[in-house]
Amino acid sequence: MKNLVSMKDLSVDQIHEILSLAQAFRDGATSTLTNKYTVSNLFFEPSTRTKMSFEMAQRKLNLEVLPFETGFSSTLKGETLYDTVKVLECIGLDVLVIRHEQNNYFEDLVGKVNTAIINGGDGTGNHPTQSLLDIYTIWEEFGTLQDKVITIVGDIAHSRVARSNADALTRLGAKVRFVCPSEWQGEFEALNEFDEVVEDSDVLMMLRVQHERHDGKTAFSKEQYHQMYGLTIERERKMKKDAIIMHPAPFNRDVEIANELIECDRSRIFKQMENGTYVRMAILEMILRGRE
Ligand code: NCD
Repeated sequence: MKNLVSMKDLSVDQIHEILSLAQAFRDGATSTLTNKYTVSNLFFEPSTRTKMSFEMAQRKLNLEVLPFETGFSSTLKGETLYDTVKVLECIGLDVLVIRHEQNNYFEDLVGKVNTAIINGGDGTGNHPTQSLLDIYTIWEEFGTLQDKVITIVGDIAHSRVARSNADALTRLGAKVRFVCPSEWQGEFEALNEFDEVVEDSDVLMMLRVQHERHDGKTAFSKEQYHQMYGLTIERERKMKKDAIIMHPAPFNRDVEIANELIECDRSRIFKQMENGTYVRMAILEMILRGRE
C-alpha cells in the first residue's frame, strides 16, 4: 500500500491486515519502523477527530510531525494543491494526510509525487480512514461483518462516510441499507421510511445533517427531521438486544440522534473515536513499511 485515498484501493485481505495491526497497536505493540519519517497534516476543511487522531497516531509511532497551517500557507496566494504538495515533497515529507473540499483532489497527486498521500476526506467523495475505523468498531463488537445488517441513515448524498462505507462494508459481507429523505438520496437506492428497518438492524449508523453543503436550503426543521429520520428514544427501544448505534460525529444533538442516546449503553460513538487512533497507526505503519 503506497497511498490510501479510497476504500477501493484496498482488497478485503488488506482491510483485514489493517484490522489486525490496529488490534495489535491497541494491545500495546509498537512500531517496527527503523528509519525516521516526517509527516504533515494538511486540513483545508474543519476537523477535530480526524486531524487530532492522526496526530496522536503519528506521535505514538514516533514520527516527526511538521505542522502545516492551511490558513497561513501560500495556498492563500493562489498556490495550487499540486504545487504545495510538490514543495513538501522537496522538503522531504514522507506522508501527507490531506482533507480538501474538492472531490477526488488526489487524482492530481497520486503517482505524480513520491510523498505518500492519505485521504482525510475529499468533499462528498471518500473518507477511507473513517470507514476503516467504523469497520474496526463493528468487527470488535461482533467478531465479523458477515451478514450483519447495517443501516446507514441520514444525509447520504453529502456524506463521504456513507460513500466509503457502502462499498467496503458490502465487500466484507455485510448487508448495507440506506434510509434518507428522497432529496438526500444521491446515487444510492434508499428507503424513505426509517421505522421499517429499526428492529432488524445490527448497526444503526446515523449521519450528520451536513448543513454546510446545503447552500442555505433547509428541507426540514430540526424537529421534523428528528421525528422522521432521527434516532429517537422510541426507536432505540425497538432496536435488537445487541444492536449498536454509531455516528462519525460531530453530531447535531436532538437532530440525527436524541441527546440522551449519545452516551447510552448501545452507543459506540466515543469508541469509534478511540479506535480511530489505532486504525490510523496501522495505516501509517503499513504505508511506511513500504518505504523502508
Ligand atoms: C465526518 C467527515 O468529516 O466526513 N467527520 C469525521 O471525520 N468524523 C462526518 C461529518 O462531518 O459529518
